[in-house]
Amino acid sequence: MSKSCSVIDHPLVQHKLTLMRDKRCPAIRFRQLIREIAVILAYEVTRDLPLEAAEIETPLETISAPILSGKKLCLVSILRAGNGLLDGMLDLLPSARVGHIGLYRDPETLEAIEYYYKVPDDISERQVIIVDPMLATANSLTAAVTRLKDDSPRQLKVACLLAAPEGVKAFHDSHPEVSITTAALDRQLNEHGYILPGLGDAGDRIFGTR
Ligand code: PRP
Ligand code: URA
Repeated sequence: MSKSCSVIDHPLVQHKLTLMRDKRCPAIRFRQLIREIAVILAYEVTRDLPLEAAEIETPLETISAPILSGKKLCLVSILRAGNGLLDGMLDLLPSARVGHIGLYRDPETLEAIEYYYKVPDDISERQVIIVDPMLATANSLTAAVTRLKDDSPRQLKVACLLAAPEGVKAFHDSHPEVSITTAALDRQLNEHGYILPGLGDAGDRIFGTR
């Protein structure tokens, strides 16, 4: 089993992430930056999409050229904060189908509580990329993947912005075959399950709720 976790070390990603971490970054700028990083995340996480050959006619000749093979991807956003990444991912993958899983962390136990689940009917024929900016304890992501596996998607991957080492380990203990692509692997979790140095509560910062 692979237990893969790739960190995108592109200078543009690191620069934009630094701007987002700054507590003075206003919601309007935070949203803009997460959308820009999401485009690059989408590019990285789709690197190994399968291709097939199609015959086309250019204005000059007929060629066999590569096109994406199989059904369109499905992006699954973990609400709420996943929607902040979703918009940028859809900029690069406009034909993707979209599912939503509503989860929130119980502030005492840090367990993930599900309140919504809606994915495409034919998800078993699609590759799924789960999007959620924060992988902290991994309780939310682990619950989301466990739930999605009931619907047997063809392949599952994860795209996130910040991950904590403890969360990556816990997640791969449950789902070792699901690869993670993240913009940064931070130092550790604090006693409240927040990522350090982190960027605070992603949902609050995206939606300006606190
Ligand atoms: C945040 C984040 C993840 C989760 C990560 O959501 O978007 O889903 O926390 O933490 P975990 O790895 O410890 O589970 P939150 O529960 O704050 O809900 P929200 O997106 O609705 O704000
Ligand atoms: N959820 C967040 O939004 N931020 C963290 O640091 C941890 C969980």
